[in-house]
Amino acid sequence: MSRSTMISKRVDAMQFSGIRKFFDLVAQRKDIISLGVGEPDFPTPEPIKDAAIRAIENDLTSYTSNYGLIELREKISDKLKKKNNISADPNKEILVTVGVSEALDLAVRAVLNPGEEVLVPDPGYVSYKANVWFAYGEPVSIPTYEKDGFRIQPDEVEKRITKKTKAIIVSSPANPTGSVMRKKDLEEVADLCIEHDLVALSDEIYEVLIYDDEKHVSIGSLNGMEDRTITLNGFSKACAYTGWRLGYAAGNPEYIEAMMKIHQYTILCAPSISQYAVMESFRHEEYVKDMVKEYDRRRRLLVKGLNEIPNMSCTMPKGAFYAFPNITQSGLTSEKFSARLLEEGKVAAVPGNSFGECGEGFIRCAYCVSREDINEALGRIEKFASKL
Ligand SMILES: Cc1ncc(COP(=O)(O)O)c(C=O)c1O
Repeated sequence: MSRSTMISKRVDAMQFSGIRKFFDLVAQRKDIISLGVGEPDFPTPEPIKDAAIRAIENDLTSYTSNYGLIELREKISDKLKKKNNISADPNKEILVTVGVSEALDLAVRAVLNPGEEVLVPDPGYVSYKANVWFAYGEPVSIPTYEKDGFRIQPDEVEKRITKKTKAIIVSSPANPTGSVMRKKDLEEVADLCIEHDLVALSDEIYEVLIYDDEKHVSIGSLNGMEDRTITLNGFSKACAYTGWRLGYAAGNPEYIEAMMKIHQYTILCAPSISQYAVMESFRHEEYVKDMVKEYDRRRRLLVKGLNEIPNMSCTMPKGAFYAFPNITQSGLTSEKFSARLLEEGKVAAVPGNSFGECGEGFIRCAYCVSREDINEALGRIEKFASKL
């Protein structure tokens, strides 16, 4: 078939996600250990599954309010108050969405006028730039570096603020690096938002996956930020809930109402069964604690192992479930390294440059596999890297 000329230039100009391309390749192969997929390998906790079954049996399958079930919004509001020090009125300051993915898309569409700029971390989650672009905005990279643990540095933010800057995306703990922002840096970023009248979009999806006594701080809880932050969070990672597609946004009613307007015309409401079921998760935090303990063991095993391999080094990530080893000593680009590791070593890891230019020289290894598989993968990577 010849290429269509009917596609919007904006859409046509965007590349497909490098991660997806990689997954499609790996999905067809049984001989591969995949450190590529960034989703929990744990099943959804039993009480949540039981609640979903009850919801189906009770025919709770209709549309819900566009904002989401009020009982769920009340639980989210309590959680935001207790855990994040954020006050959000469940009636008008919380919107339940189809994952953080939808919340992010709505947030950028709600705040951006064509041509306005949004600062996004580099390396950063692949959807940030794409969502800004599809909303007719201009993504502007904030470079982050290994020497700073890939944390966003306020001076790098300040240098990139122009008259057109409208918003900044903050992501902590971060994908793909596992970096966790320090309170002091967040406060400086908050000061810049206030000084330059910017909106902060805070992606907190990895909030609970945090290690080594690090503390999660929500930028929306900092002085002067409550009316200029949209906090995005969801259940995919914390509740092993990726396929149930449930997240939420919280913020000033002006933002939430604008986001709801788009959501109302495009999505209508988040899936009802997923909403009923997830309410159980607020009573069962022990599942999350157990998962975090296991991720932590895997994190230490993987990073220690990577640091013993020739031509590789890896700083200790503080959150999420990703290690981001440096492979520059191998002399290969990220893409070449990942492609050869897949073919010759039978291990899948995502090239770091899929997440932005500053990811060049790195690969992303997700530790969403058993410790046994991590040990096997380390052996294979060592054999591969030793030949380079
Ligand atoms: C940083 C980050 N934000 C958002 C998402 C999407 O989350 P959801 O499943 O809630 O749409 C992901 C998924 O990997 C992610 O890594």
